[in-house]
Amino acid sequence: MIDKNSPLPLYYQLEEHIKQTIESEKLMPGDSLPSERELSESYQISRMTVRQAITNLVNKGYLFREKGKGTFVSNQKFEQNLQGLTSFTEDMKARKLVPGNKLLHFEIFPADQDIKERLDLGEEELIYKIKRLRLANEEPIALETSYLPVKLVPGLTPEILEESLYTYIEDELHLNIGHATQTVEAAVVNEEDIKHLNVKKGLPVLLIQRETYLENGIPLELVRSSYRADRYKFKIDIERK
Ligand code: GLP
Repeated sequence: MIDKNSPLPLYYQLEEHIKQTIESEKLMPGDSLPSERELSESYQISRMTVRQAITNLVNKGYLFREKGKGTFVSNQKFEQNLQGLTSFTEDMKARKLVPGNKLLHFEIFPADQDIKERLDLGEEELIYKIKRLRLANEEPIALETSYLPVKLVPGLTPEILEESLYTYIEDELHLNIGHATQTVEAAVVNEEDIKHLNVKKGLPVLLIQRETYLENGIPLELVRSSYRADRYKFKIDIERK
């Protein structure tokens, strides 16, 4: 596994090897890594080289150190492609995770001015305000607040929202979801995130805001989601034209 004749630095080879062991799930989150001494003996490389590889993996988030206890495999982040207008349920299923929802708030009320304008609604129009905690394998991943016009999505109930909203819109209401604009930015956890996402004060979240439109251009939803930054990362394939 470690080739001393290779032009690749030894620490880098060990780093790649440990990474593969984690990615192929031979080492699982929470597992401890052999000590520096054991690694240096079994790969016949210096302890300094081992330390360099481990430090790099700690910095990249694959491993974490606990004082006096050793080095452990971190919880790996879910990688989410930013292309494609997908639902949370689809994203989790694509990763073979079991999606879950906890409905925290469900309300129908007349839209205020700002939301009315953004959803292109007339006076007196009603909207849903929905707040859901979104789970993957029962672990809280995102806190999501959505606004949708009642006239466009009639019949929405708390029971439906325990499952997929997009499935209801597409399969039950036969509406075609067309496109969305989405922004991703860093934010600091707020009180609600701390309470529901199980994160500590002062930590970052990934704040995603989406405005979704039906194929005919009618605004469908305004959504604000905070994703746990320690469990989620976004990926985008880019091309140099
Ligand atoms: C994602 C999007 C939301 C969308 C939701 C639908 O979380 N950010 O804009 O409303 O998916 O998810 P589901 O169909 O799983 O309820």
